[in-house]
Amino acid sequence: MAQSEERVISPQPQAEDVVDAALRPQKLADVIGQDKVKANLEIVVEAALARKEPLDHILFYGPPGLGKTTLAHVMAKEMGVNIKITAGPVIERQGDLAAILTNLREGDVLFIDEVHRLGRAVEEVLYPAMEDYALDLVVGKGPGARNIRLKLPRFTVIGATTRLALITAPLRTRFGVIFRLDFYDLAAMEAIVLRAAGMLHLPVDAAGVTEIARRARGYATRGAASF
Ligand SMILES: Nc1ncnc2c1ncn2[C@@H]1O[C@H](COP(=O)(O)OP(=O)(O)O)[C@@H](O)[C@H]1O
Ligand SMILES: [Mg+2]
Repeated sequence: MAQSEERVISPQPQAEDVVDAALRPQKLADVIGQDKVKANLEIVVEAALARKEPLDHILFYGPPGLGKTTLAHVMAKEMGVNIKITAGPVIERQGDLAAILTNLREGDVLFIDEVHRLGRAVEEVLYPAMEDYALDLVVGKGPGARNIRLKLPRFTVIGATTRLALITAPLRTRFGVIFRLDFYDLAAMEAIVLRAAGMLHLPVDAAGVTEIARRARGYATRGAASF
């Protein structure tokens, strides 16, 4: 595998990650449903590749299980870049974020899950990083303290949140594109179940597929899709 994925949240992959990773769609073309989002993401990828620039910063929002994390991985894969994974509550201090940022390479995707849970002080480090690829540090204390600005590699933040309303305005404006993920209709959910069963070599019948699809978290009957 040419790509590497580095987990900043916890050092060891969990057992369920293995099955999950195996089932996750790898490319945009493998992602079922979310047609509008997919079409727009294709344009975002093509534009970045044509300009030979990193992806725009992207924010995905919507209820759990709809594919935010999956799409972040897919976007890194489409661009042929590495993805580093972290989450809002994990980055406690400015220094934690500074350490993550200074370890990025040109073009890398930094996936920040639960991005609405970043602390204010940490967010302030993120603004110039997203806007100017710059890291502003204060060196020293008292009257001798001075600001220095480090250059960061050009990288991409992909944020995910279940709570768009909790994202601060200054953070929200730093994302070039914002996508809302929708619940899946029954046909799309059945297609997802069938695909997963096929990949796991599990025998299924049509009635079973429909039943699993109906009970799946990302499926919503009409009217239940508001959150
Ligand atoms: N469009 C899709 N097609 C196929 N599988 C999907 C799709 N969206 C999500 N999944 C699967 O559903 C599970 C949850 O998706 P995930 O990306 O973790 O959701 P979120 O990050 O929004 O909570 C994962 O196992 C993922 O592979
Ligand atoms: Mg997720």
